[in-house]
Amino acid sequence: MAGNEQEQASGEGGVATAEETLSVTDNRTGESYEVAVTDGTVRAMDFREVKVAEDDFGLMTYDPAFTNTASCRSAITYIDGDAGILEHRGYSIESLCENATYLEVAYLLIHAELPTQAQLDDWIHEVTIHTYVHENIKKFVEGFRYDAHPMGILLASVGALSTFYPDAKQIEDDYERHMAAVRLIAKMPTLAAFAYRHNMGLPYVYPDNDLSYPENFLSMMFKMTEVKYEADPRLTKALDTLFILHADHEQNCSTNAVRGVGSSQVDPYSALAAGVAALYGPLHGGANEAVLKMLDRIESVDNIPDYLERVKEREEKLMGFGHRVYKNYDPRARVIKKNVEEVLEVTGKSPKLEIAVELEKRALDDEYFTSRKLYPNVDFYSGLIYEALKIPTGMFTVIFAIPRTSGWIAQWLEMVDDDEQKIARPRQVYIGEREREYVPIDQR
Ligand code: CMC
Repeated sequence: MAGNEQEQASGEGGVATAEETLSVTDNRTGESYEVAVTDGTVRAMDFREVKVAEDDFGLMTYDPAFTNTASCRSAITYIDGDAGILEHRGYSIESLCENATYLEVAYLLIHAELPTQAQLDDWIHEVTIHTYVHENIKKFVEGFRYDAHPMGILLASVGALSTFYPDAKQIEDDYERHMAAVRLIAKMPTLAAFAYRHNMGLPYVYPDNDLSYPENFLSMMFKMTEVKYEADPRLTKALDTLFILHADHEQNCSTNAVRGVGSSQVDPYSALAAGVAALYGPLHGGANEAVLKMLDRIESVDNIPDYLERVKEREEKLMGFGHRVYKNYDPRARVIKKNVEEVLEVTGKSPKLEIAVELEKRALDDEYFTSRKLYPNVDFYSGLIYEALKIPTGMFTVIFAIPRTSGWIAQWLEMVDDDEQKIARPRQVYIGEREREYVPIDQR
């Protein structure tokens, strides 16, 4: 950035023409500056040249919660919130759900291309043979209280994995990175299921390497005395689709946590534990549970008009509606809605689905919601599927973490390879006291 120049270096070292710049006048000094505009962004560091005096620190940007700040350049996930578009590596979420399995999508996220058949076979084999966890992890899980929240158990055990694979610290080593990716994707369902079985006071079920990824998870969750667990293929497919839908969602809270913690160059297990912690929060991973509670409160279709009135009076929130990014129908919700119907064909009718469908219909007919661009998001229907699969609400977020693992790893790998990334360290605007005299304790 330079004062009154027509051309100057852009953020990437190229030359920005006058049309690709932003003119800024600092009214404090009368000085004008031109800032390069690249990909619809300006570089916050360019504003440091805006000073009132030579020794001034320079202007900073203030953006709590990063609502208008891009923290990285990424080639993994594209979202157009106004148009309701979600793509991974250029492939639409609809076509991935229609044609691919979750493990294929995980490969795509991490390797940037769809696998050939041979590559996919190798990938599935690698993931499958790494599903077991060290017996000490089992003992570690056993150490939790009987009523420990399964997400707390998952958070701790993902972090604990780093102590079992100390070589993962070598984050520049391609082999170690690959092994961490495989192990995390492979072991996350095992850890999640162990957390559930611990809660239920049931013996842990070891992975069954004959089963597919989602089928094996269901087996570890629900197998009892049968020799071999067999899931209805329609349920397995529905779960796999849910896994695809939750695999990545660009710079959301937990991904930002993984990138932020990973930027210290800690091992990927520790970085992903930060992601699990972020996902634990009700504003991130917990909304589908809130949807079920809301449908319970509404109780019957007849009560919907009254509930919608209460939402308009701001006494209630329409859970599963609205999104920071999507100002249109969340494309994931469209896919899930179809899935719910298929799942319920197997598991039997749910009175909650009837309420949900009618609630959606009435809200989308109502100017209050349409004018605010409030449409169903991914969580509006996902809880109904989990409930139909007999998964307790405490496990909903844990199950979200299973597929999001591939997104976290893909984003972590991209971050580690990005020359522009440094340790994440935001600035602050200090608003506290300065230069106070220390007061001895007896004089306070
Ligand atoms: N019910 C009723 N009104 C709403 C809702 C809702 N669910 N969401 C937003 N609004 C209203 C809000 O009150 C505001 O109205 P006004 O302009 O009159 O004050 C307007 O819509 C704009 O909302 P906003 O607060 O600017 O939206 P936001 O981007 O800050 O919040 C959100 C996004 C997802 C936190 C919010 O829509 C919400 O709380 N939804 C319900 C919880 C939920 O379903 N969360 C899951 C999100 S999807 C998870 C994922 O992608 O992983």
